[in-house]
Amino acid sequence: MSRKKVTVVGAGNVGATLAQAVAQTNLADVVLIDIPDTKGMPAGKALDILEAGPLYPYDRLITGGTDWSLADQSDIVVVTAGIPRKPGMSRDDLLLTNAKIVSDVSRNIKAHAPNSIVIVVSNPLDAMCAVVHRVTGFPRERILGMAGVLDSARLRAFIAQELSVSVENVHAFVLGGHGDTMVPLPRYSTVSGIPITELLPKEKVEALLQRTKDGGAEIVKLLEKGSAYYAPAAAVREIIEAILSDKKKILPCAVLLKGEYGVNDLFVGVPAKLGSRGMERVVSIKLNAEEEAAFKKSVEAVRELVSVLEQKKVF
Ligand code: NAI
Ligand code: 2OP
Repeated sequence: MSRKKVTVVGAGNVGATLAQAVAQTNLADVVLIDIPDTKGMPAGKALDILEAGPLYPYDRLITGGTDWSLADQSDIVVVTAGIPRKPGMSRDDLLLTNAKIVSDVSRNIKAHAPNSIVIVVSNPLDAMCAVVHRVTGFPRERILGMAGVLDSARLRAFIAQELSVSVENVHAFVLGGHGDTMVPLPRYSTVSGIPITELLPKEKVEALLQRTKDGGAEIVKLLEKGSAYYAPAAAVREIIEAILSDKKKILPCAVLLKGEYGVNDLFVGVPAKLGSRGMERVVSIKLNAEEEAAFKKSVEAVRELVSVLEQKKVF
């Protein structure tokens, strides 16, 4: 079997943590790419991760630099390039700055890794997926946004803590855009198959859902500088594993909807089956009236961001 290659664009907090996680779990060789201004930083971080190989151990090749030829023939490209938010900022405040960065990155992906599957991380997530799609022209199967896996992991962690059970017993689903309007689904969030709505009082469930929606901001506030990166990197790693191992795993990801959930031509978080071809199927689940209304609101929030990009002619 040939060695797989994952290029991580942006060797900052999420990118470097992800590079180490991919190597440590022996998924693929990794390339870290950043902008020329960062000089030796991506090469230095890559070398540091390579030198940890004998200790874990892993035999993965980790390289880094500012030259896009390093990304040639990548199987997967992860886009973490951009600025993170500061306290008081929403993800949407990053829109125009990150759209410009993600456009540049997308042109390079198209030139250097035209057959790759792209996983988008930069915020605001769903709008950045649209930028990658418009600039690369890749089919929807090869563009995925990471958000739902992270938001669901946060909800799972909070449920496990609240009920004092193993995180392995807890499943959770968070759909919609990766913003303040995200839609955690308590009916589909279960402990050993039992919905949390049957295990916890309504107010407690509401509090856990609200904490999940505020999960990114809670960490931004604590860190004061930058945003979360350990759980985000772990979430991207899970998506990479599902693809490279052709797992057919169903994970919530931002994907381009083409009529599913009543939405056309917009990236929004929904359950998707992931395998070696990338996004292999959108999984439709039944939403009740309340969930449907929340999902629609979230869709409209994403649509508004994309229309700002269209008005500003970012595409
Ligand atoms: P960071 O500031 O630590 O790293 C970003 C890196 O991108 C920097 O090293 C920067 O030099 C680099 N960069 C900027 N322009 C570039 C370009 N044109 N080409 C290559 N590299 C470029 O930020 P961090 O914490 O790693 O976050 C990165 C992005 O991911 C942010 O937009 C953040 O909001 C987002 N994020 C999204 C999550 C999600 O759930 N979707 C979770 C966590 C972060
Ligand atoms: C988060 O949810 C910053 O979007 C990122 O932590």
